[in-house]
Amino acid sequence: MELTLKSARRFVDEIPAPLVVVGVWGGEFSEEGNRLDARYRKALSRMMGDLHFRGDFGETLLVPLGKDEEPGFALLFGLGKKRGVSIETIRKAGAKLVQEIARLGFKEAVTETFLSEKFGKVEASYALAEGALLGGYTWNKYKTTGASSKRGEKLRLWLARASGSAVNRAEIVAEAVNFARDLVNEPPNILTPAELAQRASAMAQELGLEVKVWDEAQIKQAGMGAFYGVAQGSANPPRFIQLTYKPQEPAGRVVALVGKGLTFDTGGYSLKPSESQITMKCDMAGAAAVLGAMRAIARLQPTVEVRAYVAAAENMISGTAYRVSDVLKSLSGKTIEVLNTDAEGRLTLADAITYADQQGADAIVELSTLTGACVVALGEKVAGLFSNDARWGREVQEAAERAGEKVWPLPMEEEYLEALKSNTADIKNTHGRSRSGGAITAALFLAEFTEKPLVHLDIAGPAYTEKNHDLGPAGGTGFGVRTLVELLDTAAAD
Ligand code: BES
Ligand code: ZN
Ligand code: ZN
Repeated sequence: MELTLKSARRFVDEIPAPLVVVGVWGGEFSEEGNRLDARYRKALSRMMGDLHFRGDFGETLLVPLGKDEEPGFALLFGLGKKRGVSIETIRKAGAKLVQEIARLGFKEAVTETFLSEKFGKVEASYALAEGALLGGYTWNKYKTTGASSKRGEKLRLWLARASGSAVNRAEIVAEAVNFARDLVNEPPNILTPAELAQRASAMAQELGLEVKVWDEAQIKQAGMGAFYGVAQGSANPPRFIQLTYKPQEPAGRVVALVGKGLTFDTGGYSLKPSESQITMKCDMAGAAAVLGAMRAIARLQPTVEVRAYVAAAENMISGTAYRVSDVLKSLSGKTIEVLNTDAEGRLTLADAITYADQQGADAIVELSTLTGACVVALGEKVAGLFSNDARWGREVQEAAERAGEKVWPLPMEEEYLEALKSNTADIKNTHGRSRSGGAITAALFLAEFTEKPLVHLDIAGPAYTEKNHDLGPAGGTGFGVRTLVELLDTAAAD
């Protein structure tokens, strides 16, 4: 759906549109609802009473106001009890609202901004707009038949009494999240490492970011043996993608973002069962989040310098693929014994993190769909947060909280490092047959490649969903973009 938001200072009943949306807080009208009800001589409250409309969250009631009237219809939108409202309620309302308006077939509507004493106008406007733009996301690029193949369905939504600057910011952030979703949803035969690099370059050029892409020979030449080892089995050659955002007046530290960029993960010779391969086009969701965040950063222009690194590859089987027992020489100089070719993400990330460090990053945030173990620990809605630096960890966690993305800290238990000792090389890529603590050992492995403050977000759970969710359809969720933007655009420099 092509959704355009328009913010206006006027009240909801002062903006002409065929449909007007007003909120109902647990059986009671909002201020805007009362105005409208009065104008239509209590038609709305009468209908609400007759049909026992309670205004539970997401419940809706369409009320015809008259054939030749403008608006012709009112949509009562249930928000639940005012006492229990959080900003997430407003974000979800935005998403649900847009889906409902589209389902009813309206091309234009006006909604109130669901203001309450709980938060300010800016916060509410931001959450409603962000929710609407995320909820309006559709993925139908490859559909040629049926209702969902309809491209370019348009909807114009007016937000009455909204903050224009908050709506603008929401547009930038939500567009970046949807850009990340598109990358994740793209099938792996289309989105190869070269194509991912192409899209990153096009985006960088469009928005004025510096961009550098290394091909296979350059990756090898640079000494990225761990990354290259993973990539060597695929007919689709790897790419190392680097983007830089330089502020006009730089203040403080340089932050590096690193994203796992496996455009497909078969598991390699430690082959995944076919069922586990079904979602593995999502294995570049960390890269998508990082690229999405760079997109928003380029437009929001914060004062902190941000560098993004993506080691893009495909984990395949062939006569040239790496095997179990191979020893790879990483960019750091450390040698790694491969015990499982399906623990490939950490190999590609080891070199990307080393490179980010060598290039002078002061702090690193790395996002990856790294372990199934993290999904077992925290489920599909919550990302695991690991850090070697309590302060940096807290900063990222707080940014995620403000952004409305769920992350939870897990311990970097040093004792488990024992399990990664190798008889042959400096370190092994997995702890062997034992599956316990798999998300933690993966994080410990990554932390071996930098002394700088590092946050590792294991997004294997929330990056992708096979079911529709509150803020969008099944597929890539764009998880991480909002947290990164919040982190870099507000916590700027110190
Ligand atoms: N890409 C997977 C992790 C994953 C699992 C992402 C489920 C999204 C959903 C990763 O490369 C992987 O296969 N990890 C292994 C590690 C193991 C071999 C130590 C895993 O989790 O089983
Ligand atoms: Zn894997
Ligand atoms: Zn993987």
